[in-house]
Amino acid sequence: MENREPCKSSRFEIRNYLTSSFYKEISTDVLTGLTADQKFIPSKYFYDERGSKLYELICKLPEYYLTRTDLSILEEKGGTIMEPFEKGDLVELGSGANWKIRTLIDAANEPHGANLRYVPVDVSESALVAASEDLINKYPKLRVLGIVADFTRHLDRIPNEFPKLTILFGSTIGNFSEVESQEFLRTVANSIKPGDRFLIGLDMIKEKNVMEAAYNDAQGVTSAFNRNILHIINRELNANFDISVFDHVAFFNGEEEQVEMHLQAKHRTAVEIKNLNLSVEFEKGETIHTEISRKFSKESAMKMFSRAGLTVARWFTDPKGWFSLVEVVRSRF
Ligand code: TRP
Repeated sequence: MENREPCKSSRFEIRNYLTSSFYKEISTDVLTGLTADQKFIPSKYFYDERGSKLYELICKLPEYYLTRTDLSILEEKGGTIMEPFEKGDLVELGSGANWKIRTLIDAANEPHGANLRYVPVDVSESALVAASEDLINKYPKLRVLGIVADFTRHLDRIPNEFPKLTILFGSTIGNFSEVESQEFLRTVANSIKPGDRFLIGLDMIKEKNVMEAAYNDAQGVTSAFNRNILHIINRELNANFDISVFDHVAFFNGEEEQVEMHLQAKHRTAVEIKNLNLSVEFEKGETIHTEISRKFSKESAMKMFSRAGLTVARWFTDPKGWFSLVEVVRSRF
């Protein structure tokens, strides 16, 4: 066994671009968010080690149709998706536990991954290392270059040596506001070289109770995940949120075509955030807005892509049309 180790490590490299500024930003972001009229906390702070684990549990919940449906499309259409990408880099933005990429590696012509390099990009180094090690063990020829980074900022750090299929699975794009997604997709469009493609997951508008159940599971995992962001603030900023005072609330806002996640104070309360020298008061029923998950129609999605300078090459969906994986290319070079 021992002489296999160097071989494994030569197939796995990790680069960290997060530096300490990620946790300096949390100060600025939380200060801005908790002093705003509608209080908010940016959702990228959900994913510490515990948050990443809770999110993995969410993905397996019976109510959370998103992951299952996304996977079913990949299983059904993986071969077709991979046809133009038998060689090169498979870049996964926000890779987390990376189960989904396996369906694409399996679907490639060379199932051991010899012709592919997997480039996961994630803010959680621990999740990235654990998941990459699993993959390297599973695919004896696959190379992995792990990038610890905030992919909304560090797209330019992703190497350009080989043809690329960049993937944003799940409904991550739906977690960006309209303005943020435009900005992000434009950056993506500009980073796309001829021959490169981008595969992006979209959760589609469907019956309201199906969408709402996905964010209000019976076991309360989603609630634990949402409230974990308060643990993170307690730890990172030396705050004293009493987490039991805050309820998880999630509903579909039809006007905005988005599911919204909030943390709602059960009663009047105050919180000290020592590192910010800040005291924040909450009225009974007041909420902290923690996440949006936008839901798309084919029309709204097409509009979003074309405004960002992207053209739809192929559109993959499930029989019910609940979820979409859209392959886009750059409209102009
Ligand atoms: N990307 C996921 C989604 O929009 C994130 C998510 C799932 C989430 N459940 C959540 C975020 C609950 C906050 C709270 O579906």
